[in-house]
Amino acid sequence: MDVNFSKLSEEFPHLKKHFKENGKYDFGREGAVYDISEVILKKVYDLNIHFDRTKLCPRIPNRLAYIKWCERLVHERCELNKDKAEGFISIDIGTGSSAIYPFLGVKHSKFASVFIGTDVDPHSIDHASSLVHANGLQDRIKLVTVSNSEEIINSSLIDSEDLDNHVVSITMCNPPFYSSHEDLLHHAQNKPDRTNVLTASESELIYSDGGEFGFVSKYVEQSLRIKDAAFNECWFTSQLGLKGTCDRLDEKMKELKFNKLVKAYIIEELIIRDMTFRPTTKRWVIAWTVNSKFHYPIPRLRIPNILLDLVYEKLNTFSYCTLYFDEYKTSFYLESEYPTWTRKLQRQIKFKRSDFLKNGSQKCIFKVAGDCVYWVYGEDNYSWETIKTYLLKIR
Ligand SMILES: C[S@@+](CC[C@H](N)C(=O)[O-])C[C@H]1O[C@@H](n2cnc3c(N)ncnc32)[C@H](O)[C@@H]1O
Repeated sequence: MDVNFSKLSEEFPHLKKHFKENGKYDFGREGAVYDISEVILKKVYDLNIHFDRTKLCPRIPNRLAYIKWCERLVHERCELNKDKAEGFISIDIGTGSSAIYPFLGVKHSKFASVFIGTDVDPHSIDHASSLVHANGLQDRIKLVTVSNSEEIINSSLIDSEDLDNHVVSITMCNPPFYSSHEDLLHHAQNKPDRTNVLTASESELIYSDGGEFGFVSKYVEQSLRIKDAAFNECWFTSQLGLKGTCDRLDEKMKELKFNKLVKAYIIEELIIRDMTFRPTTKRWVIAWTVNSKFHYPIPRLRIPNILLDLVYEKLNTFSYCTLYFDEYKTSFYLESEYPTWTRKLQRQIKFKRSDFLKNGSQKCIFKVAGDCVYWVYGEDNYSWETIKTYLLKIR
Protein backbone atom coordinates (compact mmCIF):
# COMPACT_ATOMS: atom_id res chain seq x y z
CA MET A 1 0.00 0.00 0.00
CA ASP A 2 1.98 2.96 -1.30
CA VAL A 3 0.37 6.19 -0.22
CA ASN A 4 0.93 9.38 -2.14
CA PHE A 5 -0.09 11.86 0.54
CA SER A 6 -0.05 15.04 -1.53
CA LYS A 7 -2.11 13.42 -4.29
CA LEU A 8 -4.61 12.19 -1.72
CA SER A 9 -4.89 15.65 -0.22
CA GLU A 10 -6.01 17.02 -3.62
CA GLU A 11 -8.91 14.60 -3.56
CA PHE A 12 -9.55 14.92 0.19
CA PRO A 13 -8.67 18.56 1.00
CA HIS A 14 -9.29 18.17 4.74
CA LEU A 15 -5.93 16.35 4.84
CA LYS A 16 -4.11 19.54 3.83
CA LYS A 17 -4.12 20.91 7.36
CA HIS A 18 -1.88 18.04 8.47
CA PHE A 19 1.09 18.85 6.23
CA LYS A 20 4.31 20.32 7.60
CA GLU A 21 6.04 23.21 5.88
CA ASN A 22 8.48 20.77 4.29
CA GLY A 23 5.52 19.07 2.53
CA LYS A 24 5.55 15.97 4.73
CA TYR A 25 2.40 14.60 6.33
CA ASP A 26 2.62 15.22 10.08
CA PHE A 27 1.24 12.24 11.97
CA GLY A 28 1.82 14.03 15.25
CA ARG A 29 -0.96 16.56 14.58
CA GLU A 30 -4.26 16.10 16.28
CA GLY A 31 -6.57 13.99 14.13
CA ALA A 32 -3.91 13.35 11.45
CA VAL A 33 -3.82 9.57 11.87
CA TYR A 34 -7.61 9.28 12.08
CA ASP A 35 -8.08 11.40 8.95
CA ILE A 36 -5.57 9.57 6.78
CA SER A 37 -6.82 6.16 7.97
CA GLU A 38 -10.39 7.03 7.04
CA VAL A 39 -9.27 8.26 3.63
CA ILE A 40 -7.28 5.07 2.98
CA LEU A 41 -10.24 2.89 3.95
CA LYS A 42 -12.41 4.90 1.55
CA LYS A 43 -9.90 4.94 -1.30
CA VAL A 44 -8.71 1.36 -1.10
CA TYR A 45 -11.78 -0.46 0.20
CA ASP A 46 -14.65 1.91 -0.49
CA LEU A 47 -15.50 1.81 3.21
CA ASN A 48 -17.21 4.77 4.83
CA ILE A 49 -15.64 4.82 8.26
CA HIS A 50 -15.77 7.61 10.77
CA PHE A 51 -13.54 6.81 13.74
CA ASP A 52 -14.64 7.64 17.24
CA ARG A 53 -12.05 10.30 18.15
CA THR A 54 -12.01 9.22 21.79
CA LYS A 55 -10.85 5.69 20.92
CA LEU A 56 -7.75 4.05 19.57
CA CYS A 57 -7.09 4.69 15.90
CA PRO A 58 -6.26 1.37 14.23
CA ARG A 59 -3.08 1.42 12.11
CA ILE A 60 -4.27 -0.03 8.82
CA PRO A 61 -0.97 -1.62 7.67
CA ASN A 62 -0.58 -3.49 10.92
CA ARG A 63 -4.23 -4.64 10.99
CA LEU A 64 -3.92 -5.75 7.39
CA ALA A 65 -0.74 -7.70 8.11
CA TYR A 66 -2.57 -9.70 10.80
CA ILE A 67 -5.56 -10.33 8.50
CA LYS A 68 -3.23 -11.60 5.76
CA TRP A 69 -1.39 -13.81 8.25
CA CYS A 70 -4.69 -15.36 9.36
CA GLU A 71 -5.69 -15.84 5.77
CA ARG A 72 -2.54 -17.85 5.13
CA LEU A 73 -3.08 -19.88 8.28
CA VAL A 74 -6.52 -21.14 7.26
CA HIS A 75 -6.15 -20.90 3.49
CA GLU A 76 -5.94 -24.63 2.81
CA ARG A 77 -8.89 -25.43 4.97
CA CYS A 78 -11.02 -22.85 3.19
CA GLU A 79 -9.65 -23.83 -0.22
CA LEU A 80 -10.41 -27.50 0.30
CA ASN A 81 -13.86 -26.87 1.74
CA LYS A 82 -15.07 -24.36 -0.79
CA ASP A 83 -18.51 -25.91 -0.80
CA LYS A 84 -18.77 -24.97 2.87
CA ALA A 85 -17.13 -21.57 2.55
CA GLU A 86 -20.44 -19.79 2.88
CA GLY A 87 -20.64 -21.26 6.36
CA PHE A 88 -17.30 -20.05 7.70
CA ILE A 89 -17.37 -17.58 10.56
CA SER A 90 -14.55 -15.57 12.07
CA ILE A 91 -14.79 -14.11 15.56
CA ASP A 92 -12.93 -10.92 16.47
CA ILE A 93 -12.54 -10.63 20.23
CA GLY A 94 -12.43 -6.99 21.35
CA THR A 95 -13.44 -5.59 17.99
CA GLY A 96 -13.35 -1.99 19.21
CA SER A 97 -15.36 1.01 18.04
CA SER A 98 -14.27 0.64 14.42
CA ALA A 99 -14.65 -3.17 14.07
CA ILE A 100 -11.56 -2.85 11.91
CA TYR A 101 -10.82 -6.58 11.56
CA PRO A 102 -14.36 -7.49 10.47
CA PHE A 103 -14.33 -4.62 7.95
CA LEU A 104 -10.93 -5.54 6.53
CA GLY A 105 -11.87 -9.22 6.69
CA VAL A 106 -15.00 -8.69 4.61
CA LYS A 107 -13.04 -6.73 2.01
CA HIS A 108 -9.82 -8.62 2.02
CA SER A 109 -10.01 -12.21 3.05
CA LYS A 110 -11.55 -15.44 1.98
CA PHE A 111 -11.55 -17.11 5.36
CA ALA A 112 -15.07 -16.26 6.48
CA SER A 113 -18.37 -15.13 5.08
CA VAL A 114 -19.53 -13.74 8.42
CA PHE A 115 -17.49 -11.87 11.03
CA ILE A 116 -18.65 -11.63 14.61
CA GLY A 117 -17.08 -8.85 16.66
CA THR A 118 -17.33 -8.84 20.45
CA ASP A 119 -16.47 -6.11 22.93
CA VAL A 120 -17.01 -5.27 26.59
CA ASP A 121 -17.46 -1.60 25.79
CA PRO A 122 -21.11 -0.99 24.78
CA HIS A 123 -20.21 2.45 23.36
CA SER A 124 -17.71 0.79 21.04
CA ILE A 125 -20.30 -1.73 19.90
CA ASP A 126 -22.80 1.11 19.30
CA HIS A 127 -20.31 3.07 17.24
CA ALA A 128 -19.21 -0.01 15.30
CA SER A 129 -22.87 -0.95 14.65
CA SER A 130 -23.54 2.44 13.13
CA LEU A 131 -20.56 1.92 10.80
CA VAL A 132 -21.80 -1.52 9.80
CA HIS A 133 -25.18 -0.02 8.91
CA ALA A 134 -23.63 2.92 7.08
CA ASN A 135 -21.78 0.44 4.89
CA GLY A 136 -24.74 -1.93 4.43
CA LEU A 137 -22.79 -4.89 5.83
CA GLN A 138 -25.32 -6.12 8.40
CA ASP A 139 -25.42 -9.56 6.74
CA ARG A 140 -21.69 -10.04 7.04
CA ILE A 141 -20.75 -8.32 10.30
CA LYS A 142 -22.53 -9.10 13.58
CA LEU A 143 -21.61 -7.37 16.81
CA VAL A 144 -22.04 -8.60 20.36
CA THR A 145 -21.61 -6.78 23.67
CA VAL A 146 -19.94 -8.92 26.31
CA SER A 147 -21.43 -8.26 29.71
CA ASN A 148 -18.91 -10.27 31.70
CA SER A 149 -15.34 -9.10 31.12
CA GLU A 150 -14.12 -12.47 32.44
CA GLU A 151 -15.46 -14.03 29.28
CA ILE A 152 -12.90 -13.72 26.53
CA ILE A 153 -14.33 -16.44 24.36
CA ASN A 154 -17.35 -18.53 24.99
CA SER A 155 -19.59 -20.00 22.36
CA SER A 156 -22.66 -19.10 24.37
CA LEU A 157 -21.76 -15.46 23.75
CA ILE A 158 -22.62 -15.92 20.20
CA ASP A 159 -26.22 -16.04 19.19
CA SER A 160 -26.85 -19.69 18.42
CA GLU A 161 -28.62 -18.65 15.23
CA ASP A 162 -25.37 -17.20 13.98
CA LEU A 163 -23.57 -20.46 14.63
CA ASP A 164 -26.29 -22.69 13.18
CA ASN A 165 -24.91 -24.49 10.15
CA HIS A 166 -21.69 -22.54 10.48
CA VAL A 167 -18.17 -23.39 11.49
CA VAL A 168 -15.71 -21.06 13.11
CA SER A 169 -12.61 -21.04 10.93
CA ILE A 170 -10.58 -18.63 13.03
CA THR A 171 -10.80 -16.30 16.01
CA MET A 172 -8.78 -13.08 16.14
CA CYS A 173 -7.91 -10.67 18.90
CA ASN A 174 -5.91 -7.53 19.55
CA PRO A 175 -5.87 -7.54 23.35
CA PRO A 176 -5.29 -4.65 25.74
CA PHE A 177 -1.53 -4.58 26.39
CA TYR A 178 -1.06 -3.21 29.87
CA SER A 179 -1.95 -4.33 33.36
CA SER A 180 -2.17 -0.82 34.87
CA HIS A 181 -1.49 2.89 34.24
CA GLU A 182 1.98 2.45 35.76
CA ASP A 183 2.69 -0.39 33.37
CA LEU A 184 1.54 1.79 30.46
CA LEU A 185 3.78 4.68 31.57
CA HIS A 186 6.70 2.32 32.01
CA HIS A 187 6.39 1.08 28.41
CA ALA A 188 5.78 4.60 27.07
CA GLN A 189 9.10 5.73 28.57
CA ASN A 190 10.82 3.15 26.41
CA LYS A 191 9.28 4.63 23.27
CA PRO A 192 10.71 8.15 23.14
CA ASP A 193 10.18 8.32 19.36
CA ARG A 194 6.40 8.29 19.68
CA THR A 195 5.30 11.20 17.48
CA ASN A 196 1.58 11.31 18.12
CA VAL A 197 -0.45 11.39 21.27
CA LEU A 198 -2.17 8.11 22.09
CA THR A 199 -5.92 8.55 22.40
CA ALA A 200 -7.68 5.52 23.80
CA SER A 201 -10.16 4.42 26.41
CA GLU A 202 -9.24 2.40 29.48
CA SER A 203 -10.53 -1.00 28.26
CA GLU A 204 -8.60 -0.64 25.03
CA LEU A 205 -5.28 -0.34 26.81
CA ILE A 206 -5.59 -1.91 30.23
CA TYR A 207 -6.54 -5.38 31.38
CA SER A 208 -6.05 -5.30 35.11
CA ASP A 209 -5.91 -9.08 35.45
CA GLY A 210 -2.39 -9.42 34.04
CA GLY A 211 -2.30 -7.19 30.96
CA GLU A 212 -1.73 -8.82 27.61
CA PHE A 213 -0.37 -12.08 29.04
CA GLY A 214 -3.29 -12.35 31.47
CA PHE A 215 -5.82 -11.68 28.71
CA VAL A 216 -4.41 -14.17 26.23
CA SER A 217 -3.84 -16.81 28.94
CA LYS A 218 -7.50 -16.61 29.85
CA TYR A 219 -8.43 -16.76 26.17
CA VAL A 220 -6.30 -19.91 25.78
CA GLU A 221 -7.83 -21.57 28.84
CA GLN A 222 -11.38 -20.76 27.74
CA SER A 223 -10.69 -22.05 24.23
CA LEU A 224 -9.78 -25.44 25.72
CA ARG A 225 -13.18 -25.69 27.38
CA ILE A 226 -15.32 -24.96 24.30
CA LYS A 227 -17.50 -27.93 23.49
CA ASP A 228 -19.46 -26.50 20.57
CA ALA A 229 -18.79 -28.56 17.44
CA ALA A 230 -18.67 -25.33 15.41
CA PHE A 231 -15.17 -24.79 16.89
CA ASN A 232 -13.85 -28.28 16.10
CA GLU A 233 -11.41 -27.18 13.42
CA CYS A 234 -10.88 -23.66 14.68
CA TRP A 235 -7.50 -21.92 14.91
CA PHE A 236 -7.53 -19.44 17.78
CA THR A 237 -5.21 -16.47 17.26
CA SER A 238 -4.12 -13.24 18.86
CA GLN A 239 -1.87 -10.37 17.96
CA LEU A 240 0.77 -9.65 20.61
CA GLY A 241 2.48 -6.34 21.26
CA LEU A 242 5.05 -7.29 23.87
CA LYS A 243 7.99 -9.62 23.32
CA GLY A 244 7.82 -10.67 26.97
CA THR A 245 4.29 -11.99 26.40
CA CYS A 246 5.54 -14.14 23.51
CA ASP A 247 8.15 -15.78 25.71
CA ARG A 248 5.73 -16.46 28.54
CA LEU A 249 3.06 -17.80 26.19
CA ASP A 250 5.63 -20.02 24.53
CA GLU A 251 6.31 -21.66 27.91
CA LYS A 252 2.61 -22.05 28.59
CA MET A 253 1.85 -23.52 25.17
CA LYS A 254 4.77 -25.94 25.33
CA GLU A 255 3.28 -27.40 28.48
CA LEU A 256 -0.24 -27.54 27.05
CA LYS A 257 1.08 -29.28 23.97
CA PHE A 258 3.09 -31.71 26.07
CA ASN A 259 -0.09 -32.53 27.99
CA LYS A 260 -1.95 -32.94 24.69
CA LEU A 261 -4.38 -30.14 25.51
CA VAL A 262 -3.47 -28.23 22.37
CA LYS A 263 -2.60 -29.97 19.15
CA ALA A 264 -0.35 -27.32 17.66
CA TYR A 265 0.71 -23.73 18.22
CA ILE A 266 2.78 -21.06 16.49
CA ILE A 267 4.29 -17.79 17.70
CA GLU A 268 5.79 -15.59 15.00
CA GLU A 269 6.78 -12.03 14.39
CA LEU A 270 4.24 -10.35 12.17
CA ILE A 271 5.79 -9.00 9.01
CA ILE A 272 4.46 -5.48 8.58
CA ARG A 273 5.95 -4.40 5.28
CA ASP A 274 4.26 -1.10 5.01
CA MET A 275 5.85 2.17 6.03
CA THR A 276 2.83 4.31 5.40
CA PHE A 277 2.59 5.89 8.77
CA ARG A 278 6.04 5.70 10.35
CA PRO A 279 8.64 3.04 11.07
CA THR A 280 6.47 0.18 12.19
CA THR A 281 6.30 -1.04 15.75
CA LYS A 282 7.07 -4.73 16.20
CA ARG A 283 4.11 -7.05 16.58
CA TRP A 284 3.81 -10.81 17.00
CA VAL A 285 1.06 -13.33 16.49
CA ILE A 286 0.11 -16.49 18.31
CA ALA A 287 -2.15 -19.21 16.96
CA TRP A 288 -3.16 -22.51 18.52
CA THR A 289 -5.57 -25.27 17.76
CA VAL A 290 -7.15 -27.80 20.04
CA ASN A 291 -8.49 -30.17 17.39
CA SER A 292 -7.68 -29.10 13.87
CA LYS A 293 -5.98 -31.62 11.63
CA PHE A 294 -5.05 -28.86 9.21
CA HIS A 295 -1.43 -27.79 9.55
CA TYR A 296 0.18 -24.40 9.52
CA PRO A 297 1.36 -24.07 5.90
CA ILE A 298 5.13 -24.33 5.92
CA PRO A 299 7.08 -25.83 3.03
CA ARG A 300 8.46 -29.14 4.28
CA LEU A 301 10.31 -30.50 1.29
CA ARG A 302 11.77 -29.07 -1.90
CA ILE A 303 11.82 -30.93 -5.15
CA PRO A 304 13.53 -29.72 -8.32
CA ASN A 305 11.15 -27.90 -10.67
CA ILE A 306 12.22 -30.06 -13.52
CA LEU A 307 10.72 -33.11 -11.84
CA LEU A 308 7.28 -31.66 -11.20
CA ASP A 309 5.56 -33.29 -14.19
CA LEU A 310 7.08 -36.62 -13.30
CA VAL A 311 6.01 -36.24 -9.68
CA TYR A 312 2.46 -35.56 -10.80
CA GLU A 313 2.49 -38.55 -13.14
CA LYS A 314 3.77 -40.91 -10.45
CA LEU A 315 1.45 -39.72 -7.71
CA ASN A 316 -1.46 -40.11 -10.10
CA THR A 317 -0.99 -43.86 -10.20
CA PHE A 318 -1.66 -44.67 -6.55
CA SER A 319 -4.77 -46.52 -5.37
CA TYR A 320 -6.83 -45.07 -2.52
CA CYS A 321 -5.51 -41.62 -3.45
CA THR A 322 -7.03 -38.71 -5.32
CA LEU A 323 -5.03 -36.09 -7.12
CA TYR A 324 -6.54 -32.69 -7.94
CA PHE A 325 -5.49 -29.21 -8.96
CA ASP A 326 -6.28 -25.97 -7.19
CA GLU A 327 -8.57 -23.40 -8.80
CA TYR A 328 -5.77 -21.74 -10.79
CA LYS A 329 -3.98 -24.98 -11.64
CA THR A 330 -0.81 -23.64 -10.05
CA SER A 331 -0.57 -26.38 -7.45
CA PHE A 332 -1.97 -29.84 -6.86
CA TYR A 333 -3.08 -31.89 -3.90
CA LEU A 334 -2.70 -35.57 -3.15
CA GLU A 335 -5.39 -36.84 -0.83
CA SER A 336 -4.66 -40.30 0.48
CA GLU A 337 -6.53 -42.82 2.59
CA TYR A 338 -3.60 -45.23 2.90
CA PRO A 339 0.11 -44.77 2.15
CA THR A 340 -0.12 -46.89 -0.99
CA TRP A 341 3.23 -45.55 -2.25
CA THR A 342 5.11 -47.74 0.25
CA ARG A 343 6.65 -50.99 -0.99
CA LYS A 344 4.69 -52.95 1.58
CA LEU A 345 1.32 -51.69 0.41
CA GLN A 346 2.31 -51.82 -3.26
CA ARG A 347 3.09 -55.50 -2.82
CA GLN A 348 -0.22 -56.18 -1.07
CA ILE A 349 -2.11 -54.39 -3.82
CA LYS A 350 -0.18 -56.25 -6.52
CA PHE A 351 -1.10 -59.61 -4.99
CA LYS A 352 -4.65 -58.48 -4.37
CA ARG A 353 -4.30 -58.69 -0.61
CA SER A 354 -6.06 -56.12 1.46
CA ASP A 355 -4.67 -56.63 4.99
CA PHE A 356 -3.88 -52.93 5.21
CA LEU A 357 -7.56 -52.01 4.91
CA LYS A 358 -8.21 -53.62 8.29
CA ASN A 359 -6.32 -50.91 10.14
CA GLY A 360 -8.74 -48.20 9.04
CA SER A 361 -7.93 -45.26 6.79
CA GLN A 362 -5.82 -42.28 7.83
CA LYS A 363 -6.67 -39.35 5.63
CA CYS A 364 -3.72 -37.15 4.73
CA ILE A 365 -3.47 -34.32 2.22
CA PHE A 366 -0.20 -33.16 0.69
CA LYS A 367 0.21 -30.21 -1.60
CA VAL A 368 2.80 -29.58 -4.27
CA ALA A 369 3.13 -25.88 -5.06
CA GLY A 370 6.07 -24.49 -7.00
CA ASP A 371 9.00 -26.60 -5.90
CA CYS A 372 7.66 -27.10 -2.37
CA VAL A 373 5.73 -29.89 -0.78
CA TYR A 374 3.42 -29.08 2.12
CA TRP A 375 1.80 -31.44 4.54
CA VAL A 376 -1.62 -29.84 4.62
CA TYR A 377 -3.82 -32.21 6.60
CA GLY A 378 -3.69 -35.35 8.70
CA GLU A 379 -1.93 -36.87 11.66
CA ASP A 380 -0.32 -39.95 10.21
CA ASN A 381 3.38 -39.29 10.51
CA TYR A 382 4.17 -42.60 8.79
CA SER A 383 2.35 -41.37 5.64
CA TRP A 384 4.30 -38.14 5.68
CA GLU A 385 7.68 -39.76 6.27
CA THR A 386 7.17 -42.38 3.58
CA ILE A 387 5.84 -39.99 0.94
CA LYS A 388 8.86 -37.79 1.58
CA THR A 389 11.18 -40.73 0.99
CA TYR A 390 9.22 -41.65 -2.14
CA LEU A 391 9.38 -38.12 -3.54
CA LEU A 392 13.09 -37.81 -2.87
CA LYS A 393 13.74 -40.94 -4.89
CA ILE A 394 11.97 -39.72 -8.03
CA ARG A 395 14.52 -39.09 -10.76
C1 LIG B 1 -6.48 -2.91 21.87
S1 LIG B 1 -8.21 -2.74 21.68
C2 LIG B 1 -8.40 -3.42 20.05
C3 LIG B 1 -9.52 -2.79 19.26
C4 LIG B 1 -9.57 -3.23 17.77
N1 LIG B 1 -9.72 -4.65 17.67
C5 LIG B 1 -8.30 -2.80 17.07
O1 LIG B 1 -7.49 -3.68 16.75
O2 LIG B 1 -8.13 -1.62 16.83
C6 LIG B 1 -8.81 -4.01 22.75
C7 LIG B 1 -10.33 -4.15 22.75
O3 LIG B 1 -10.70 -5.25 23.59
C8 LIG B 1 -11.88 -4.91 24.30
N2 LIG B 1 -11.99 -5.82 25.46
C9 LIG B 1 -11.39 -5.77 26.66
N3 LIG B 1 -11.78 -6.81 27.41
C10 LIG B 1 -12.61 -7.58 26.65
C11 LIG B 1 -13.35 -8.79 26.84
N4 LIG B 1 -13.31 -9.46 27.98
N5 LIG B 1 -14.11 -9.27 25.82
C12 LIG B 1 -14.19 -8.59 24.66
N6 LIG B 1 -13.53 -7.44 24.43
C13 LIG B 1 -12.76 -6.94 25.41
C14 LIG B 1 -11.67 -3.46 24.63
O4 LIG B 1 -12.86 -2.79 24.96
C15 LIG B 1 -11.04 -2.94 23.32
O5 LIG B 1 -12.01 -2.49 22.43
